[in-house]
Order: sequence, then C-alpha cells, then structure tokens
Amino acid sequence: MPLPALKLDYANVLDTAVGATHGLSLAELRRAEPEVQTLVARIERERKAGQHRYRELPHDAAMLKTVQAAVRRYRGKFENLVVLGIGGSALGNIALQTALNPCYYNLLPARERGGPRLFVMDNVDPTQFGNLLDLLGPALRKTLFNVISKSGETAETAAQFLIVRDLLQRKLGRAGLRANLLVTTDPEGGTMRGIVDAEGYAALPVPPGVGGRFSVLSAVGLFSAGLCGIKIDRLLAGAAEMGRRVGKTAVRQNPAALLALLLHTFYVRGKRLHVMMPYGYALKDLADWYRQLWAESLGKRCDLDGQVVGVGPTPIKALGATDQHSQVQLYREGPNDKVFIFLEVERYARDVKIPRAAGLPADLDYLQGRTLGTLLSAEKRATEYALVASERPCLTIRFPVVSAETVGQFILLWEAATTIAGGLLHINPYDQPAVQMGKEFTFALMGKQGYERQAREYAKAAKRGGKHIV
Ligand code: PA5
Repeated sequence: MPLPALKLDYANVLDTAVGATHGLSLAELRRAEPEVQTLVARIERERKAGQHRYRELPHDAAMLKTVQAAVRRYRGKFENLVVLGIGGSALGNIALQTALNPCYYNLLPARERGGPRLFVMDNVDPTQFGNLLDLLGPALRKTLFNVISKSGETAETAAQFLIVRDLLQRKLGRAGLRANLLVTTDPEGGTMRGIVDAEGYAALPVPPGVGGRFSVLSAVGLFSAGLCGIKIDRLLAGAAEMGRRVGKTAVRQNPAALLALLLHTFYVRGKRLHVMMPYGYALKDLADWYRQLWAESLGKRCDLDGQVVGVGPTPIKALGATDQHSQVQLYREGPNDKVFIFLEVERYARDVKIPRAAGLPADLDYLQGRTLGTLLSAEKRATEYALVASERPCLTIRFPVVSAETVGQFILLWEAATTIAGGLLHINPYDQPAVQMGKEFTFALMGKQGYERQAREYAKAAKRGGKHIV
C-alpha cells in the first residue's frame, strides 16, 4: 500500500497569487530549473560515491537492527529516560517526541505511555538541571541517561555527563553507573569514545560522515524515540520514500529541489526570512529542528572557492494559531522580506467538538456544533489568504496525517532541500566554523589547557572595549 504522501503546494508564491512584484512567474521558474536539475544530478552522483551520508540512513538495516536491539535491552526497565545533548544531538529527539507521542506524554500513567518519561536536557541552565536531578533523585535507579555527543568535546554535554557520572557512581556504585548510562558517540574517535572504551559503558554509534543536525534518523534520534514507543521502522520507511522523490532530477517531481529553488530564488530577490508556521501542536518542534538545520547549514561567511560571501537565510518559527495573535500584524504590514512556509494537517489525530449551548449571544453561533480541528484549519486558510492579499508569498507543506511515515518524509525532505540550497548558494552545508569560535572561547574562559592564546585575546578585547554600562 502506498504511504500517505506529503505534498508541497506552491500556488501562493506565484505572481498569479501575490502579484508580479513579490511573486514568481512560471516562466521564471522554468528558467531556473536547468541549474537545479544539474545540481540534483551531481548530488546523486556524489551520493553514490559515498557523500551526503545522511541519505543512506533510511536504508541502513544494520543501524536499525542495532538501535532496535538497544531498545529491547532497555525496554521495561526504566521509568525515566534523560537525553543529555545539544543542537543536533537533541533537537531531533524533541521533535520526534512532540510529533509522534501524545501531548503531555510525561504526565500520563505508565500503562498509557509507550515507554519511560522523556526529558531532553539541551542546556546547562543550573536551575533547570538542578531541579531535574532533584525530581529524579528518588527514582535514580529507574532512570536511564543517554549521553549523546558525536565529538564528546561539547562543553555543555561534557559538563552534564560529569555531573551524572558522579551522581550515579555515588548513589548506585560502579555497576549502577554502567547499567544506567548509555552513550551515543562516534564509533571510532573523540573524547567520549575514549571514555566509553576506558570505563566500559554501553554505547551506540553516530554514523561516520553524518553531522549532528543531519543525524536524527540514526541512533541519535531513534533510540529515545524507539524506547518511548515510536515506530522507528515506519519513520525510516517514510524517509526512504522521500529519498526516492528527492533523487529525481525533474524539479517539479522533486519536492526538495522545488523547495530549494523557490526559497533560493526568493533569497536572491531579498526575501531572506523564512518563517515556518505549523498549524498543529505535534509539528511545533519540527519547526525548531528545521530552524537549526536551515541556519547552521546555510549561514556561511565563505563560499566553496574561499570568497567571502556572508550568505544565509534566517529561519523563523511560529505556531498557528497562537502566533496569529503575536506575529501576524508584522508579517502582513511590516517589511515584505519573508516567505511563509505553513505546515498543514489534513486530518488531526483527534478532534474536539464545540458543544451547542442555549441562551448565548448569537455572535457565538458560528462556533457551536463545529470542532476545534475545523476552526484551526479555517484559521490557517484565513491567515494564508490575508498574507497573500498583502502580497506575501506562502508555501504549504500538507501532512495527510501526522504519523511516523509522514514525519520521516518531512525530515528527509528538509535535509535534502538543505543540501540542494547549499549547492545553489555555493557553500558547504555540512560544516559550522562560526560555532567553533564560541566553543573555543568558552574553553578559554573555563581555563581549558591549550586555549591560553584565546584567553589572552579575550582579556585584551575586554580591556579595549572598556566599561559602558547603564
Ligand atoms: O549540527 C551540529 O553539528 C551541531 O549542532 C552539533 O550537533 C552540536 O554542536 C553538538 O555536538 P556534539 O554532538 O559533538 O556534542
């Protein structure tokens, strides 16, 4: 049976909808297609030669088997799962959980949950982290910690790991430490690999050649999802289906190519803010995941020839209907420098009826006997209509339903669109040199050996800047 397929509706970015000044003509699109077609063909050749490794994850049966075996090993043994990671080692886990498990999952009784409660700690806020440890303290023996760090050198995750390692060792002893800690890291090198090997922790691999923000469909995102009852094989099946679509060179049959082409064309025309606005709570954290993927991959100082170009669209997340009452005033009447990407759900997982009530003002009649799903869908269409009336280009990605299959498709769609957009911008979408500098200066300020030069540089700059504080 064919999987329910995601659809990309681009009618409202065309000049026929938003006018010639802000919309694209079909002729313009046709003129841009050959470049994208050549690029997709090149990416496919590179993929077959071993590049763009994330594209292989949906077909990686050995990887799936390893993750499923780990899920079986831990299933039923823990009440809580705490993921310690940041950036690409956390955002996918959060997104999958919000999309595919019931809202308020952690508050459900154990028998109604597909697995342990899940806490993803992607920060080192001391109050938050301390409060979580207090909360879990009495149930420490029933808490599994999954440390996720490809490099093992990320300060935030390393600090969390040291705290949890010490806590487990003190409270549960060495055997408890080993039983309650699972590390997801590079299988061959890096600081965390060295620790895993030396101290004998259970581990899962981050596949070589797959960067953090492209790793959600590996053990990085799949273990917590699988342990919490999400059908990870269906997630990969959806991603594999999208993998087939995004390999096609014909742009109109390839939603990733079309997305990249449209967003790149708008970028060049000065619409550099790309707002993703899901109409569905389940999809809200996928917008957060997209924000990292689009920003960290495409925001680059230098192009592939080393020329300083300073490019990159700014991804923004919003949530319908909530942000209609917060952002839409700006979106309709402020600068026309944005493209809107709505995420629409055709059939919500459930619906809630608005009851009929006698004796109320006629003003509320239009709601009575309808459903919240009907209202939310109407709000999406109305908001899009209003934006289009103000000549704001709008795309819609339509989910027939929110399921493991469609979420898998969505993930691969955006990963592939990012690769293609990187090609159009002529930059490397897989590195993040600018993040590195902040990491190095954090090391310097924390007194890490080998970062003395940065520490001196920082002190000098601080002195030069002087104090100008009100
Ligand atoms: O996308 C990326 O590469 C980053 O967001 C990383 O995932 C993040 O910096 C965490 O890195 P690591 O997994 O090495 O701790």
